[in-house]
Order: sequence, then structure tokens, then C-alpha cells
Amino acid sequence: MDKKVFLISGGSSGIGLAVASSLLNQGHHVISLSRSSEKVARAAREFPGIAERLDFMQGDVSIAEDAQKIAESIHEKYGVLHGLVNNAGVLSKGSLETTEQTVWEKTLAVNLTGPFILTKALLPLLKSAGGASVVNISSVAGLKPGTSLSYSVSKAGLDMFTRFLAGDLGPYGIRVNSVNPGLVRTHIHLDNSITESRQAYEDMLAKARVRYPLQRIGMPEDIASMVVFLLSEESSWITGSIMTVDGGVMVENDLIPPKEL
Ligand SMILES: NC(=O)c1ccc[n+]([C@@H]2O[C@H](COP(=O)([O-])OP(=O)(O)OC[C@H]3O[C@@H](n4cnc5c(N)ncnc54)[C@H](OP(=O)(O)O)[C@@H]3O)[C@@H](O)[C@H]2O)c1
Repeated sequence: MDKKVFLISGGSSGIGLAVASSLLNQGHHVISLSRSSEKVARAAREFPGIAERLDFMQGDVSIAEDAQKIAESIHEKYGVLHGLVNNAGVLSKGSLETTEQTVWEKTLAVNLTGPFILTKALLPLLKSAGGASVVNISSVAGLKPGTSLSYSVSKAGLDMFTRFLAGDLGPYGIRVNSVNPGLVRTHIHLDNSITESRQAYEDMLAKARVRYPLQRIGMPEDIASMVVFLLSEESSWITGSIMTVDGGVMVENDLIPPKEL
């Protein structure tokens, strides 16, 4: 890829940080939009030398004024945007009976309204790239009900956002695709209090692992490689696709007996 400018929402942690690291290693300019400077400091501890090279802009994807300020800063500093990764997301848990309306609203605000706000604010900069790529980080939970009503609905909505925008923005040369990961080891479960302790988190991963035909949970880099491909010209005829990157969990079938390994 020629040297380009990319914005990753939630580039300070997990999957977003792995995408940022890969793009920085290719020599691109990478801007990360997220809220807490502590997570940027944590990223610097986990990936020494990476977080300092990220152009960290502070803001909340669910706040239109923040997105507008980011768009203005990118316009002043770079004048163009070649790619946007709508990756910032929150995880929630609960069924219809156990989900509070505040949790429902917050999950949809960040995971679904966030990409709408950010993509709309950045559209003029994406148009001026003369061929840009938007990648939305969805989930297998958007394709098959998971354990959280609000999370699954937010990601199913994001998949339709992807498909709609692919048709809407294709004539501007802007491609829009979705990457739908299975379970990936990041900070999202502990940061969003989905499991109470690190031990409970490790137990959850161990229990989940057996449902994956490839017998392992994903790492952020497994997802980043697909995102980087979709941002690159290698994927120049791909738009409106929903790409599962999930160790095969979507084809898991309880009727097949487990293998003796
Ligand atoms: N890990 C998994 O198993 C998994 C599976 C499927 C899909 N995903 C999806 O992958 C994406 C990344 O998740 P991850 O697992 O890498 O999580 P993570 O490690 O918790 O990272 C989430 C990032 O999003 C940022 N963020 C959260 N809310 C934000 C907001 N309102 N405005 C701006 N930034 C915000 C966080 O920073 P601040 O909190 O400082 O803002 C952080 O940088 C999410 O969309 C998630 O739904 C994850």
C-alpha cells in the first residue's frame, strides 16, 4: 500500500490496537479515536513503541460534536482520509427480562449510532481520497443470537448499515465491508464487567474454546489481518461483504461428536 491516512475508532485496545499496529508497521499514518487516556497508557505498556506513534484523538463515537471536531482536526492536519475502521464497541449482557433500558440505549448508541455519526462526519474526507475503504467491526453475535439481546441487535443493525452503505457510497469509490469476529482475547469482557474476575474470564474462554472447530479462541491479530486486507487495494472489488473471522464457530454443529485428540 502507498502511505495513507487511516482512522480507527477504539484504536487504544484489543482489535483496534492490533489493526493500528499493523498499519503503523506498514508506514501509514494512524489516528485513534477513543475516550480514556488510561487505555492509551495501557496500550503503551502492552505494545511498547506503538501507542506513542498513534495520533491519539480523544472523543466519544456516540457524540456528534466529538466526531465533528475529529473531522476538522483530520482536515487541518492531513486533508484526506483513506480508510475508516468503525471498531469502538461495548459489550453488554442480558435477555429481554434482564436488560435495563439504559444498557440497551448505551449499547446501541456506541455500537450502531457511533458508526453512523462517525462515517457521516468523515464522508467528505473519505470522498476526497478518490477510493476509500470503511470497515465495520461487527460480530458473529449479529448473525446468530448470542448471550446479549442489545449487543446482538446492535451488531445485526451494523451489518445492514454495511450493506446499505456499500450501495450508497459505491459510486463515490468508497467500499464498505464488515468483519464479524468470534470470541477474541481482548480487554472487552473485563472492562465491561461481563465476567467478575480474571479467573472467571479464563474459565469462560476455556469453556468456549471447545465450540470452535479450530480449537482455539481468536487473537486480535487474527482479526487485524482481515481488516488490513479490506483496507488495501488487494480487496478493490469487495464491497457489501460480511466476513466472518471466527475459527469456524458459525459452522459448529452439536450433532458431530467431539474428536479424540
Ligand atoms: N473481543 C471479542 O471477543 C469480540 C468479538 C466480536 C466482536 N468484537 C468487537 O470488536 C470491537 C473491538 O472490541 P475489542 O474486543 O477489541 O474491545 P476492547 O479491547 O475493549 O477495545 C474497545 C475500544 O473501543 C473504545 N471505545 C469504547 N467505547 C467508546 C466510545 N463510546 N467512543 C470511543 N471509543 C470507545 C475503547 O476505548 P475507551 O473505552 O477509552 O473509549 C477501546 O479502545 C468491538 O466493536 C467489539 O464489539 C469483539
